[in-house]
Amino acid sequence: MTTVPNSTTTLNRKKVTALSLRNKKAAGEAISMLTAYDYPTALALDQAGIDAILVGDSLGMVVLGYENTLPVTMEDMLHHCKAVARGARSALLIGDMPFMSFQVSIPEAVRNAGRLLQEGGMDAVKLEGGRERLETTRAITAAGIPVMGHLGLVPQSVNQLGGFRPQARQAAEARRLIEDALLLEQAGCFAIVLESIPARLAERVSSSLEIPTIGIGAGAGCDGQVLVTHDLLGLFERFTPRFARRYAELHAEMVQAFETYKRDVEEGVFPAQEHTIDMADSEWAKLIEELDHAV
Ligand code: KIV
Repeated sequence: MTTVPNSTTTLNRKKVTALSLRNKKAAGEAISMLTAYDYPTALALDQAGIDAILVGDSLGMVVLGYENTLPVTMEDMLHHCKAVARGARSALLIGDMPFMSFQVSIPEAVRNAGRLLQEGGMDAVKLEGGRERLETTRAITAAGIPVMGHLGLVPQSVNQLGGFRPQARQAAEARRLIEDALLLEQAGCFAIVLESIPARLAERVSSSLEIPTIGIGAGAGCDGQVLVTHDLLGLFERFTPRFARRYAELHAEMVQAFETYKRDVEEGVFPAQEHTIDMADSEWAKLIEELDHAV
């Protein structure tokens, strides 16, 4: 019989590390990863036993309301990484390197990766790109910082890709992606996110690598899966990618709760007796007497 982890067992679980994800792949166990940007979500994900939490730069779209991830800064990331780190004890914490935090120079990339660990409380970083990021990946890992790669639809290059579209559907592009994945592994990545690529290509990449692949819109053949938590919860109404499954409809529930609250306030139903702070009759009488004497 399989044991379903409950919140008590997962609260006491051991800290997940970059190495444990690799061991999970070797043991044929699927890896679960989700995004978080705040303390209560991190608490809930950790309690649910999710293996890895990504503080993604999707923050820009689903929390800060930008059109894409490009405006997200290191300061934005650090602010939200710190909140997540305060909430999660066991999950592996991965901080996304935002646009322009690793592209300008290698020393700047190492410094910014270090800030995500030192100030943000993360265990590892993720950065987008393939062969053009090998030197950067090597330098960050040489500083003792685990690096997760990200191939396929890389949202920071949305302007170059011509939109949020599936990638590597042509043989030449697919071959390049396979090569990039192998090069990232050799450069020291401990895992690679594969976003929005054909399932059979993702499966091929996964079986070619020792390190785990974490898929998003890349089919069931990856070693693990990641979703943007706001998509999973139905919290981000503006857009839901075709590959995301909604496990709840929290935006609709929020609107309903706010409407009910508004009605209760307008009808005088809230606050009720149980939400009201009492004062002893004797103290009240003392106050009235003092006030009466004052006038
Ligand atoms: O920013 C993010 O949330 C991501 C995931 C979609 C992998 O990069």
